[in-house]
Amino acid sequence: MTFLFNSDAVRGAIFAEAFARELPDLPFSMDPAGVDPDAVRYLITWTIPDNLARYRNLEIVFSIGAGVDQFAMTALPPSVKVVRMVEDGIVRMMQEYATLAVLTLHRQMPAYRAQQAACVWRPLPQPQAAQRRVGVLGLGVLGQAVLERLKPFGFPLAGWSRSPRDIDGVTCHHGADGLDAMLAETDILIVLLPLTPDTRGFLDAALLAKLPKGAALVHTGRGPQLDHAALLDALDRGQLSGAVVDVTDPEPLPADHPFWTHPNIVLTPHIASVTQPDGAARAVIGNLRRHFAGQDPVGLVDRRRGY
Ligand code: NDP
Ligand code: OXD
Repeated sequence: MTFLFNSDAVRGAIFAEAFARELPDLPFSMDPAGVDPDAVRYLITWTIPDNLARYRNLEIVFSIGAGVDQFAMTALPPSVKVVRMVEDGIVRMMQEYATLAVLTLHRQMPAYRAQQAACVWRPLPQPQAAQRRVGVLGLGVLGQAVLERLKPFGFPLAGWSRSPRDIDGVTCHHGADGLDAMLAETDILIVLLPLTPDTRGFLDAALLAKLPKGAALVHTGRGPQLDHAALLDALDRGQLSGAVVDVTDPEPLPADHPFWTHPNIVLTPHIASVTQPDGAARAVIGNLRRHFAGQDPVGLVDRRRGY
């Protein structure tokens, strides 16, 4: 029975050390070429290796990241469990990023950067937090954590998910009707949805048109959820006032893509959250212990839903 680590060696060394300490009886390998494929029961990876079929006794595939959309699920036998990464570092970093993005938009930093570039000293009218409504698409681990971190600022908070949720201090919506209701009352929209067939292309012209005029977007889900042309059009018409975009399609963006130079877009290279190897090793070891005890791992993916 072997745990196979299929990622970079620096992270691997941290995993190896944690496994040796916490699960000394479970052989740990970072060498796909050298490992006995029949012994591999557990695999951690970012993408599914082409030669996955050789691991005939595989029980669990762990994603190195919070998302699992990069996995070709059909390549996995139905008996194999898929587990996404639920790890403190990812959560903490997403709370930081979303807070930074919301405050950047709320306090009009793109406009002040433009004024600075033009040597213009001019205070702009500043709405108070109580007048800036923040809505989050996706009320999972990250959406909820972000909302929790935003609470002290005093923004009216709302969120939307597939199934009903009840979160203290947050107006929760769900389903198609709930979406329209939330969008109509959202000044800053944060996207923390997984990429699935239902959410691919979800942030399109029709959705952006349902936001109040002058609203802003924080896109931290997955690139293929956003229609780039629709965002540019909404910004250029003033339907949206700004956007903070961390994920794009493709990644990286080509050098001539208009997002690079748009005055009202703040662009970052998919860094909102980065898996922290020590926390990830702890999470995976905890999940293996749960598995050995006959319990479901934390972050078990419903392969039918795709998240
Ligand atoms: P979770 O699986 O915990 O939560 C997903 C949420 O999305 C749930 O609330 C779910 O609803 C909701 N949802 C999914 N599909 C739909 C739908 N069709 N309609 C309405 N709601 C839907 O995921 P996480 O919070 O851990 O992560 C969310 C995503 O964030 C990741 O999948 C990844 O794409 C992205 N991410 C981005 C990073 C970055 O650096 N930019 C880093 C890490 C993650 P319900 O509660 O009803 O199930
Ligand atoms: C993730 C990511 O899914 O980095 O963890 O986006």
